Amino acid sequence: MTEPSQAEDPKAQLVKRKLEGVEIPLHKQVQARTATTYLEYVHLIHNAVPELNLTEIDTSVTFLKHQFSAPVLIDAMTGGAAPLGKINGNLAIAAEKLGLGMAVGSQRAGLVSDEAADSFVIARRNAPNAFLAANIGGAQLAKGFAIEGAKNLVDMIKADALIVHLNPLQELIQPEGEPVYKGVLSRIGELAQKIGVPVIVKEVGAGLSKEAALKLELAGASAVNVSGLGGTSWAGVEQIRAEERDVKNKATLGEIFWDWGIPTAAALLEVTKAVEIPVIGSGGLRNGLDIAKCIVLGATIGGMAWPMLKRAVISPEVLVKYVEELIGEIKGTMFLVGAKNVEELKKARYVLTGPLAEWRQQRSP
Ligand SMILES: Cc1cc2nc3c(=O)[nH]c(=O)nc-3n(C[C@H](O)[C@H](O)[C@H](O)COP(=O)(O)O)c2cc1C
Repeated sequence: MTEPSQAEDPKAQLVKRKLEGVEIPLHKQVQARTATTYLEYVHLIHNAVPELNLTEIDTSVTFLKHQFSAPVLIDAMTGGAAPLGKINGNLAIAAEKLGLGMAVGSQRAGLVSDEAADSFVIARRNAPNAFLAANIGGAQLAKGFAIEGAKNLVDMIKADALIVHLNPLQELIQPEGEPVYKGVLSRIGELAQKIGVPVIVKEVGAGLSKEAALKLELAGASAVNVSGLGGTSWAGVEQIRAEERDVKNKATLGEIFWDWGIPTAAALLEVTKAVEIPVIGSGGLRNGLDIAKCIVLGATIGGMAWPMLKRAVISPEVLVKYVEELIGEIKGTMFLVGAKNVEELKKARYVLTGPLAEWRQQRSP
């Protein structure tokens, strides 16, 4: 997700890190350890008299003026090196076939070579109609990445929106990280004014608070993605990279902050009440019930990254089947709460228990 600064061969190092950014989450345990999303503390109330048939349930939603067949976003992951194009290609096949949205991974690497650009371009080639979002790091913006450069990223994949990812936790722990965020809000504001497509601001697994979301809304973000704690841990990924490089202080930081962040359900409680722009729920969502719970908590759509990656590296068919099942699980939840469309799902009754209920009580002022 981040870009190098003082490496001897920045291009080669960037490609290596892009590959590791997929290989480590795929082959090592970098999910949250004891932390969870807190979605398990959201209890949807069962409706024994739903008065509708499963077949008549409509899961379609509108997000930033785009119609999705279901409230599912394939969240931002990859690109930037030739082998990663295959993954973006497969993710895009699923997004197109099922009428969903997709975000590519941090894209600055795509400006380095044609080969790297191709690994992003394939997404639009395979998904000519789907909602597709470009991606740039907030840290890059803070360091002065030009608006013109961001326009190139949007043009590269004819993107419908531009995502800015915020990853202060990752920058803190990454061996070559640059925890430089001063000025990021005004850069986001400038981008929102000049880029010509909606700007979506997201975290990458540590969650957005209501204060952060409000600032982003004021700065001009068209949507936010809470991407909270409970799923893929970027502190975990960087802990492993730091250990491999024998950077001891970073490895220790990674251990300490592995489970740092705002659980996804708590982030949604905070953010959906605070802002008027659409909110995406993501971070540790692992089935259709999780996505449905995010909608009930006020999200417009739910995003998933790691579960999509695991299937995308096998084949587009395996991924499509998985996402079809996922949509089936959302539909199943809607049936059981008696919601025939997503508008009704949003109004489903729920009870919050345990630490999530405590979080809500202490949310104010
Ligand atoms: C392999 C991988 C690579 C990722 N790369 C990016 C990225 O380049 N840009 C970004 O905005 N988020 C990136 N993310 C973060 C995800 O979009 C998402 O916010 C986070 O992983 C939480 O979702 P999950 O628990 O379903 O994986 C990445 C996630 C994974 C698993």
